[in-house]
Amino acid sequence: MKKTFLFVDILKAIILFYSTGVSASVPHKTVTSSVNKPVEMVGKKNVEEKFIANLMAKMTLEEKIGQLSQYVGREFLTGPKSGELSDSLLERGMVGSILNVGGVVNLRNIQEENMQKSRLKIPILFAFDVIHGFKTIYPTPLAESCSWDLDLMYRTAKSAAIEASASGIQWTFAPMVDIARDARWGRIVEGAGEDTYLGCKIAEARVKGFQWNLWHPNALIACAKHFAAYGAPQAGRDYAPVDMSNATLAEVYLPPFKACVDAGVQTFMASFNDINGIPATGNKWLLTELLRNRWHFKGFVVSDWNGVIQLKTQAVVEDENDAAALALNSGLDMDMTDGLFNACLANAVQNGSVSVSTIDVAVKRVLSIKYRLGLFDNPYRFFNTERERKVVKNAERMQIAKEAALKSIVLLKNENKTLPLSKSVKKIALIGPLADNQSEVMGSWKACGDEKDVISVYCGLKSKLGTGIKILCVQGCDFSDRSKQGFAEAMKVAQESDIVIAVLGEKALMSGESRSRAFLSLPGVQQQLLDTLKTTGKPIVTVLMNGRPLVLSEVEKASDAILETWFLGTLAGNAIADILVGDYNPSGKLTTSFPRAEGQIPNYYNYKRSGRPGNMEKTSTMRHIDLRNENLYPFGYGLSYTQYRYDNFVCPKTFDDKGKLPVSVNITNTGEYDGEETVQLYVSDLVATMVRPEKELKQFKKVFIPRGQTVRVDIELDARELGYWTNDMEYKLEPGDFAVMIGPNSRDLLCKNVTLKTIPVDLPNKQ
Ligand code: BGC
Repeated sequence: MKKTFLFVDILKAIILFYSTGVSASVPHKTVTSSVNKPVEMVGKKNVEEKFIANLMAKMTLEEKIGQLSQYVGREFLTGPKSGELSDSLLERGMVGSILNVGGVVNLRNIQEENMQKSRLKIPILFAFDVIHGFKTIYPTPLAESCSWDLDLMYRTAKSAAIEASASGIQWTFAPMVDIARDARWGRIVEGAGEDTYLGCKIAEARVKGFQWNLWHPNALIACAKHFAAYGAPQAGRDYAPVDMSNATLAEVYLPPFKACVDAGVQTFMASFNDINGIPATGNKWLLTELLRNRWHFKGFVVSDWNGVIQLKTQAVVEDENDAAALALNSGLDMDMTDGLFNACLANAVQNGSVSVSTIDVAVKRVLSIKYRLGLFDNPYRFFNTERERKVVKNAERMQIAKEAALKSIVLLKNENKTLPLSKSVKKIALIGPLADNQSEVMGSWKACGDEKDVISVYCGLKSKLGTGIKILCVQGCDFSDRSKQGFAEAMKVAQESDIVIAVLGEKALMSGESRSRAFLSLPGVQQQLLDTLKTTGKPIVTVLMNGRPLVLSEVEKASDAILETWFLGTLAGNAIADILVGDYNPSGKLTTSFPRAEGQIPNYYNYKRSGRPGNMEKTSTMRHIDLRNENLYPFGYGLSYTQYRYDNFVCPKTFDDKGKLPVSVNITNTGEYDGEETVQLYVSDLVATMVRPEKELKQFKKVFIPRGQTVRVDIELDARELGYWTNDMEYKLEPGDFAVMIGPNSRDLLCKNVTLKTIPVDLPNKQ
């Protein structure tokens, strides 16, 4: 057995793990220090503390609890319910925050009412689900993650923050940093895919983007959600229980949240699910021991929607009073929408199940954020109609929307160079329920996005091609309706045309919250439509729009080329048109593996080794007898209009005594187009005390390579990144042999073995 080094302190280990040797980091200024305190605030801390202490001395218990209560804006209410925002709540100072009301005028009205009616005039904090844009809609987060472009993700988050804050919003419930290994789970669309290393980098970029100018009225405070392991519900059903080993929790699901803390995120959201039997909303280990004591998170934690009352439905408490007390005592600071803190915490203080000092700690956290946002100086600071008019949907927003859409598209198949469209194409049959659709293209969580602003594929292509090329656009069929009435017309236009472009996929709300699916092929009769079109013998380009990996085995058979475009947002049609005609060379790479069939799920790439490795032809191996193990499209996969050759992979035989390993590879662009390639570096621990994955992404680099040219790519690997987490939640690094692999995706890799002889001397806390 190898010699073992244990890091007792989980915190230090994670800091070490995620702060070393990364080539793919966000090249922007860090806006906060690692202890969640803005640099410019350091000197002002005492003033802030005094202000808050004075204010709190004046507050009644009811008013304090009010600061911990968040409500939905009145205009979203359809009738009286527990979370209703009533005038009397405002008057009694019992509204700390309001969510999902947009527009400067609306927000100003509510704030004015609050300032007039409430006794202490504590400003309300306004939150909104600004997930991938506010009015200008960017690609959904899963789509955008396929760009592997951290700087881009920083910029779209920043741009969304500029736009939303100009509409009066101060706080977004984003980024969602839940790792998702199950395509059935609809919320996979909101995250960064299945890989933890990449997920951490993207989490950092998005937090820094939203909070780019933290505490100023053109930025938002961010929220790391859903803490934790919400992305691993059983059977992929949203809100289902989560049951997993501590090692998997620590190694796969927690690190992106830690990356958010390190990036200075100001708030967290507790998830709906339980983790190994303990609901996150009432989980003291999670919300206090880990988040506060070990990670030193200083902001506040909000529940998810009605998360507190759901403790009763999860039956870990008998009644609402116990639910509110359990949540607060566990470390939850703000109660979203169910009104339970307001309804129950004062009683809880009286009966001794909650202490005033626990309430005070939570209130201080909330008031501190309001203070830093400058709301006590000017509660209307974010409201400026002139600014709203100038920044919303302006040219800068649109330019970023187009760039993001272009970089998110993944080319999955391109037989016989079907794409880009040949100059000989004079007539195009553009067919499918998404061919000329504006509303679905925005995807789930479109915030205040307006479909009228969205460019459909038809419009994008028409404006790109002008009048010289004819586009015959028909719907062919609907999404879930099984009628084939439109097939005849679709066949007619296909037969008349030189090429068929079929724009198929899911409706926006077939993914997202509470939108789990058991069958992942194209919904409705879209596959039959595609198969029917195939009988024309015309080349078929399938343009897919969907919020999750689909099962594409049949689509692959019927298509000559496939573009995975996800949901690209406002400028989807322009970006897709650019790619179709070859004005932009696709460069996206999948951040989530595409299964051959639903039965393969979970089908993530970094599977652990089996004692009987999979081999479909061989009995008694880790296999299905009726399906190849390999994914249809692996993690990291994506084609280009050009081709790249990887060679001359240079990798020393051992790590140096500082634990570094400089590797390099030559990449030659052998095709006809300039292109951008994402070079991926994977590592496998060849012998370890615990069973390890066959490969894990450890670094990546994006490089632009002009056609005909060779680029040498250097990457430095750090041994500190090669450890793993045990079930005791200790980070362990063992010397020995590792395989280092480099290539264009997680399947096609050049490989060398390397030895880690000694643990680097500067490694702290080794035992
Ligand atoms: C979702 C959260 C969201 C919240 C507020 C919940 O149902 O799970 O992700 O931020 O609603 O809209």
